[in-house]
Amino acid sequence: MIAEGIVVMRMIKWENGLVLTPDQTLLPLEEVTLKLCSVEQMAEAIKTLRVRGAPLLGAAAAFGVALSAYYSKAQTLSELLSDLEEAGTTIKMQRPTAVNLFWATDRVLNMARAYKGDVEGLRAAVILEAKQIADEDAAQNYAIGKNGAVLINDGDTILTHCNAGELATVEYGTALGVIRAAWGQGKKIKVLADETRPLLQGARLTTYELQRDGIPVTLITDNMAGYVMSKGLINKVIVGADRIVQDAVFNKIGTYSLAVLAHEHNIPFYVAAPKSTFDLTCKAENVTIEERKPCEVTHVGCQQTAPNGVNVMNPAFDATPLKYVTGIITETGIYTKDHFQKFNKTFPL
Ligand code: MRU
Repeated sequence: MIAEGIVVMRMIKWENGLVLTPDQTLLPLEEVTLKLCSVEQMAEAIKTLRVRGAPLLGAAAAFGVALSAYYSKAQTLSELLSDLEEAGTTIKMQRPTAVNLFWATDRVLNMARAYKGDVEGLRAAVILEAKQIADEDAAQNYAIGKNGAVLINDGDTILTHCNAGELATVEYGTALGVIRAAWGQGKKIKVLADETRPLLQGARLTTYELQRDGIPVTLITDNMAGYVMSKGLINKVIVGADRIVQDAVFNKIGTYSLAVLAHEHNIPFYVAAPKSTFDLTCKAENVTIEERKPCEVTHVGCQQTAPNGVNVMNPAFDATPLKYVTGIITETGIYTKDHFQKFNKTFPL
């Protein structure tokens, strides 16, 4: 059940050959819906973070392949399959870290490869598969919220990083889904949102979502996390994830520092993510961390804040070793430290 005051919206949908999704680069000041009609447009939206957040990237990837199916001029099954493979390659090239992008693309392509029927049947089947991925993600988020809400106490103040909310998923959110569910149970909680340099997903998106729902939220800069923990101002940290491997959780740059700080201050550190974010075939050392453009660091918006020509690092994600993670909240339950030891190619639960 969704609590009164909580606004729930579909972040991505298929409408007569168009994929509709908010342009997240314009939020919170402008609410503009993108109407994407080609895999190239979807690829651009993914690359530029108009569409972002691991679970939403999964659905976006699937809809990108669906756009290619819908507009393909293929006359035969093998021609259509070749167009779909090309679309999948285009989508996968856009961002390397969030595994959901690869998982969803492969799920649609594997279905297409095994398809027995005619061209029109495959077109329809690809679109249906993308819609199913989106529906499943929405349902998983509600389950994550329900499972995670038991960890939240009345009166808690929760720190979150980046945006793991509705905007990062098909509906409801992962880390913010847990917060929404706890709020819906009547728990009087507060949230501190890290601004999340350099692209400010926390400042722009997390505060926007929580304000809209009437959940008390206070914006802090990333370098205030140690201060708020040392002052006893927070009881829990909850973040999302882009990829969970055998030995680490990948999430927005800065998550690792938060986890170490939380450990030092004995503050529980939770990760909320659907199982489509797990990639238990690999270890942290095998994951490519996206390196983004220097101008995201040398500028705040359009304003240059660093001297011309300065050297810049801009990794978009970092890896938090599982030893710092108190629990991973999924749609089927909560994985604790005891389960982590068994994270070896299969789920422990
Ligand atoms: O670069 P972004 O904005 O796509 O990064 C998003 C994050 O790091 C989120 O925390 C993560 O995808 C989890 S979203 C439920």
